[in-house]
Amino acid sequence: MMQIQVKIPAIAGTSYTVTIGTDLLGGIIEDVRQIYPRHRFFLITDANVLTAGLPGRLAADKSDELMSFIIEPAGEVSKHIATVTAICEIMDKNAFGRDTCILALGGGTVGDIAGFAASIFKRGVPVVQIPTTTVSQADSAVGGKTGVDSTISKNAFGTFWQPAAVFVDVSTLKTLDERQYRAGLVESVKHALIRDAKYFEYLEQNLDKILARDESILQKLAVYNCRIKAAVVEQDPKEANLRRILNYGHTIGHAVESASNFKLLHGESVAIGIVGAGIIEDKLGLVKDDRLGRIKAMLEKLGQPTSIPLYLAKQQVLTLISHDKKAAGNEIRFVLLDKIGQVHEEKGKWAVPVATELIGESIDLLFHE
Ligand code: GLY
Repeated sequence: MMQIQVKIPAIAGTSYTVTIGTDLLGGIIEDVRQIYPRHRFFLITDANVLTAGLPGRLAADKSDELMSFIIEPAGEVSKHIATVTAICEIMDKNAFGRDTCILALGGGTVGDIAGFAASIFKRGVPVVQIPTTTVSQADSAVGGKTGVDSTISKNAFGTFWQPAAVFVDVSTLKTLDERQYRAGLVESVKHALIRDAKYFEYLEQNLDKILARDESILQKLAVYNCRIKAAVVEQDPKEANLRRILNYGHTIGHAVESASNFKLLHGESVAIGIVGAGIIEDKLGLVKDDRLGRIKAMLEKLGQPTSIPLYLAKQQVLTLISHDKKAAGNEIRFVLLDKIGQVHEEKGKWAVPVATELIGESIDLLFHE
């Protein structure tokens, strides 16, 4: 078992522990009771996690029977404000108070919804994140972003609400279907690309074992991911500048994900977005090595798409890109690389403006990569 401390300077004296290991689920409630001995626990999970039997492993002991909310159907389709309202109403009806501790067991959608509910219920109660997918273990469970989609855009309503603790149990990844498992690994590739060339090499060298879900290798990935994420979030918890690097590949990624009506998974969309960012880097003269070939080879080995599917409309993708949260005024901003492990910085900014024409040309190429 390995523990990483995340210290968030915006909240004086606050830090939380990310515990990484295998077969942790059965001991988590006991561990959380050390922090909150008198709190009432409320579990938020989803139908897929329930089918996989994970809530039973969390509360194997009868005395730990939990009141819970099961998000159904699982996935992005339930990530709207009505789900958060329903959760808060149920807690309120059952006399949960400010001494509530929410346990979020599941993937990114569960974590985002549960974190949001925790941040507004009774003006804010603690949430413990227990991610069970490759996306949420690598990325969304650490760092305190919460939120839901509006009818217009992804994550339109949300808060920054840091978890009280995070437990990354890599054995839960065995319950994922192959497509979900592989797509989520793209967030690990993203971390390596923005911060750590040695991690990228480690991924290249261990791809077969990663795909075979070797738990000792998955724990190493979790340690790399959490260290990278924690280091960035500690410096810039509210995404004023540096934290934007965690959105590498996401400007085009979010656009194709929405344009596909979520037929493309988040990680698959980010894979396309990473290749798109690479094309822009190339056009701007930032590519002076063989990195595009290496990156595409890795994404292909993970079974990820590296071009925009032809059923998507270019104009819709461009419109969605222009709605990206990093856009400022009429400028569309991208996180770009100087090299593997190093993000390109301009005038102290980590997300830099890119001309609309150049984006259009790059999107044209990205349909035919
Ligand atoms: N997933 C990007 C971030 O947490 O900032």
